[in-house]
Formats: sequence, C-alpha cells, structure tokens
Amino acid sequence: MKPNLSVKIGKLDLKNPVMVASGTFGYAEEFKDFFDLKKLGAIVTKTITIRARHGNLPPRTCETPAGMLNSIGLENPGIDKFIEEKIPFLKKLGIPVIVSIAAEEDPEEFAILVKQLDKISEISAIELNISCPNLQKNKLISQDAQSTFALVSAVRQLTEKTLITKLSPNVTSISEIALAAQNAGSDAVALINTLTGMSIDVHKRIPKIASWVGGLSGPAIRPVAIKMVWETYNKIKIPIIGMGGIMDIESALEFFIAGSTAISVGTANFINPRISLEIISGLKAYMEDNDIQNLSNITGKLKACKD
Ligand SMILES: Cc1cc2nc3c(=O)[nH]c(=O)nc-3n(C[C@H](O)[C@H](O)[C@H](O)COP(=O)(O)O)c2cc1C
Repeated sequence: MKPNLSVKIGKLDLKNPVMVASGTFGYAEEFKDFFDLKKLGAIVTKTITIRARHGNLPPRTCETPAGMLNSIGLENPGIDKFIEEKIPFLKKLGIPVIVSIAAEEDPEEFAILVKQLDKISEISAIELNISCPNLQKNKLISQDAQSTFALVSAVRQLTEKTLITKLSPNVTSISEIALAAQNAGSDAVALINTLTGMSIDVHKRIPKIASWVGGLSGPAIRPVAIKMVWETYNKIKIPIIGMGGIMDIESALEFFIAGSTAISVGTANFINPRISLEIISGLKAYMEDNDIQNLSNITGKLKACKD
C-alpha cells in the first residue's frame, strides 16, 4: 500500500503536508543548492510589507538553551521588489507559493497588499501575519478576537485566493482567536508564531539582542505549540498548519496527532537545511509501517491515556 500524503488547505492541493515556516527559508532561492525544492508541499515566503524594511538593529538573534531568540523586525525588499525579483524564481518551482504579508502601521496596508497579490496567478495563497512580535507594537491584531475578525473579514472580500491567518501564542486563549479567524472567512490558521522572550548577558549586564525582547522559537516552544494546536483543533473546523519546534519526524508527528492538517518547519532549517525533506520521507515510512493510507487517519487522532 502506497501512503497518500496529499492534503487540502482551502483551495490548495498539496502533494505532501510539509512546508517551510515564514522567515526561516528566505524566498526559497537561498536554499536551492541544498535539495530539490519541488519536493516540498509548499513554500511560505518571508513576510512582505508595502515598503522595504531594513529590520531591527543587530544583534538580532541569540541562542537559548533549547532554541533561539530573534528580532529580525521584518526585513524585506517591499512588495514591488518582491514581485519583480523573487516571484520569477518561485513560479518556476511549480509548487504552491504562499506569500506572507504584514502591516507596519495601519491594518489598511493588508488590503493594499492583498489587492496587489491577488492579480498574480502564480501566488497560490496569502498568509496574514498578524502575529509578528518584533514590530514594537503595544498590541497585535491577533491578540484580540474582534480585531482579528475585522481584519480577516475585510481582506476576505478582496480575494478568492486561499487565506491563512497566522496566530500568536502570546494570548490567553489562542482558540478564541482562531475561531474569530474562521468566522471571518479564513481558510486555515497557522500556529504558532514565536513566544516573546529575553536573554541577558550577565557579564555585560545587557540584553543579548538589541531590541531587548525577541521571539523565542525552536524545541523550547514545542509543548506550548502542541497544546495550542490540540486546543484549537477541538474548537474550529478549518485546517490547522502546525509549527513550533519541529526538529525531526517524531516532533512532526506530534503536530499531526494533536490536530494539524499540515506542518511548517522553521528554526530547524538553520541547523539542517534538508530537514523538511527528511521529514517527508519519515512520514511516508511511518505511514507504511503503521498501515496508514491517508493523513486524515493521523490528524487529531489522539487517544486517551490508559489507566
Ligand atoms: C529568524 C526567524 C524569522 C522569522 N520571521 C518570520 C516572519 O517573517 N513571518 C512570520 O510569520 N513568522 C516568522 N518567524 C516565525 C516562524 O515562522 C515560526 O512561526 C516560529 O519560529 C515557530 O516555529 P519554529 O520553532 O519551528 O521556528 C520567524 C522565526 C525565526 C526563527
């Protein structure tokens, strides 16, 4: 029996459920020498804004006991340059391209970006990054259910393309926010973005990253992400794209069993750029070994503990 790894996210048909997380894979071309990128389920680009951004001052990353802190600050070339310089390579790949977007100041910027991306046929889906912790905002859109509902509803009217809403773990109830995104017409939710954190150089008594506070990612956040995926799976009907500390096939499987339809690999790309490929092979082997024909037989299939 040949396992079927394909999944559907909104209008997107993915040949396998493994994608790369926004901001950890550049615009894909940076990784072209490591493996055949066509083998990925989909590519999610670094988040794009209307204007080009240089990002935050260095140092912007530091290692932590089980992960990393980053405060890149959405460095990107801006939408026009992205379309001109990055899309030609991405469209040659022939796999779904998901473009992540964010507003710098005004939520209206999302509408401007969506209108522009909607015209480009090679773009398969748009991910609304309403959860970036590195823009020095008092409150993120994804920290409020009403604001999430308002933003997603406004954008939904502007495009028929698949819409994915990327959520923040820095909230009391992520499933409430996911429900708001679903009710506003989002086709899927992606979770989690990074958890806010700090690290201190005790010898100099200074923060290890220049913006003091950054986003924590990697294995340290995995149990938090798993709990949030599981909680959200029990509350919503649209697919979940799970991420947060996926390092290998075992951690990827945790996300499916907790309720993810697809997964994104982030920080692990910096350690092993071929990790996504290894996870795809591992998934096939796991399904073969356990006589699992379709991924839907794993997603959300968490059993209760025996006494
Ligand atoms: C260096 C770095 C840059 C990131 N940039 C973005 C970004 O531009 N947009 C976004 O939505 N998430 C961004 N993220 C968050 C990741 O996409 C992902 O949600 C998070 O890191 C959790 O997954 P992981 O633990 O596998 O890295 C970034 C993460 C890292 C480590």
